[in-house]
Amino acid sequence: MFAQLSVFALLAIQACTVSAFPAYQSLAGLSRDELDSIVPTLRFTPPPPPPGPLANDSSKLVHDAAHPYEPLKDGDQRGPCPALNTLASHGYLPRNGIVTPVQLVNAVQEGFNLENSFARFLVYSTFLVNGNPITNLMSIGAATPLTGPNPPAPATVAGLNTHNNCEGDTSMTRADAYFGDNHSFNETRFQTLVKFSNMFGNGKYNYTVAARLREFLVQDSIANNPQFTLVSPRLFTAFAESVFPINFFIDGRDKSGQLDLDVARSFFQNMTFPPNFHRRDGAVSNVGQDVVTDYFNFTPGYNAKGVNTFVVDPTSATLDQPCVRYTNFVNGLIKSLYPNPTGVLREALNINLQYLYEATVAAGDGCTQVFPYGH
Ligand code: HEM
Ligand SMILES: *[C@@H]1O[C@H](CO)[C@@H](O)[C@H](O)[C@H]1NC(C)=O
Ligand SMILES: *[C@@H]1O[C@H](CO)[C@@H](O)[C@H](O)[C@H]1NC(C)=O
Ligand SMILES: *[C@@H]1O[C@H](CO)[C@@H](O)[C@H](O)[C@H]1NC(C)=O
Ligand SMILES: *[C@@H]1O[C@H](CO)[C@@H](O)[C@H](O)[C@H]1NC(C)=O
Ligand SMILES: *[C@@H]1O[C@H](CO)[C@@H](O)[C@H](O)[C@H]1NC(C)=O
Repeated sequence: MFAQLSVFALLAIQACTVSAFPAYQSLAGLSRDELDSIVPTLRFTPPPPPPGPLANDSSKLVHDAAHPYEPLKDGDQRGPCPALNTLASHGYLPRNGIVTPVQLVNAVQEGFNLENSFARFLVYSTFLVNGNPITNLMSIGAATPLTGPNPPAPATVAGLNTHNNCEGDTSMTRADAYFGDNHSFNETRFQTLVKFSNMFGNGKYNYTVAARLREFLVQDSIANNPQFTLVSPRLFTAFAESVFPINFFIDGRDKSGQLDLDVARSFFQNMTFPPNFHRRDGAVSNVGQDVVTDYFNFTPGYNAKGVNTFVVDPTSATLDQPCVRYTNFVNGLIKSLYPNPTGVLREALNINLQYLYEATVAAGDGCTQVFPYGH
């Protein structure tokens, strides 16, 4: 099923022959000489390009007989994203939550009708930070040995739960990392979503509610989380995720734009498509986000010295600067995780960076490509 398994097979053999080198241990503990001898021997399969758009993006039944919900088994990974959790629990992604970028793009398109260029940017940016570039695997939850031996620190390869890469503060149903568990469903926060839906949406979650709730969540974190931060790249996902439930969790046969709260709970908490769920009709991305930003004009920043000490971060991209986002992401975040990659690691990073850049081209952003590791 996974071409990448060859890497594991090889490492498993090495783990037995090379003394005490557990298959999942970080390669970081090894000397330069040891690294130079091991890394080039990994049978590296260059990651295939991402799929294009769906041939047919009409609405259709996705909670079908071929994709039944199955409860979690021991060791299965689930994390902060209700959509990916649901896709894994229904078999659109591997049910253990260990996934490749191609599987992710296919699953979010097939299951939810997420637009292709948006899906690709989300997937490759997340993968470059939280996935294992050599084995081409990522956990949609916590770090796990199943993604293979880690590249050397400071690379994290810790799955989607990793704080401050894509996971971040002001989630609707997950607490800020400062308060402990940053990825499990949190009933208190869901009840805030319910309260706002009752106040501004007549008991449904819609764009009007999304705008009010987004403002509240930011102000709440500024007032209560001494380590609050909301800057690029998390800034972009926080605002997009506010409208995602409206765009993707409403059944495709319902054009009202009003999300029922039991349906919301089914995704956020139970990781389940409602019975008979049809995906939305036609691919979209973050349509409706302008309703949120028109209402709540936020400048990226953080609490500098404890609660209520918000300062603007002038180095962060703002929501209307996709190319600053792209350039800082590559030259800042990725370079900090992989300061000086060599061999197949460098090759793998460059291929994934190429796929990331191509997503910005497909989105029509007009960014200039940057090459932190040469051509
Ligand atoms: C149609 C596709 C998708 C939908 C509908 C969706 C929906 C959401 C929503 C609503 C949240 C916010 C949860 C909350 O605030 O309580 C979220 C969080 C998240 N999603 Fe997705 N998502 C999609 C695709 C993806 C993809 C492709 C990735 C990356 C591969 C991703 C990664 C994440 C991460 C890391 C978070 C955590 C943010 C946080 O809580 O700090 N999502 N997603
Ligand atoms: C697209 O898919 C829908 C739903 O499955 C189907 O009814 C329709 O015939 C398909 N259209 C084409 C052109 O294949
Ligand atoms: C749930 O979220 C609330 C509000 O952010 C927080 O105070 C609480 O500690 C969280 N609960 C858990 C179990 O993480
Ligand atoms: C996020 O949650 C995970 C799992 O509970 C924890 O290991 C990690 O330390 C948390 N991140 C932060 C920054 O607190
Ligand atoms: C949200 O619901 C409220 C209450 O029904 C309504 O006044 C408002 O127009 C709705 N907003 C949208 C964008 O549907
Ligand atoms: C969530 O799952 C529980 C336990 O299976 C079930 O009782 C409940 O009805 C489900 N809720 C929704 C909204 O899907």
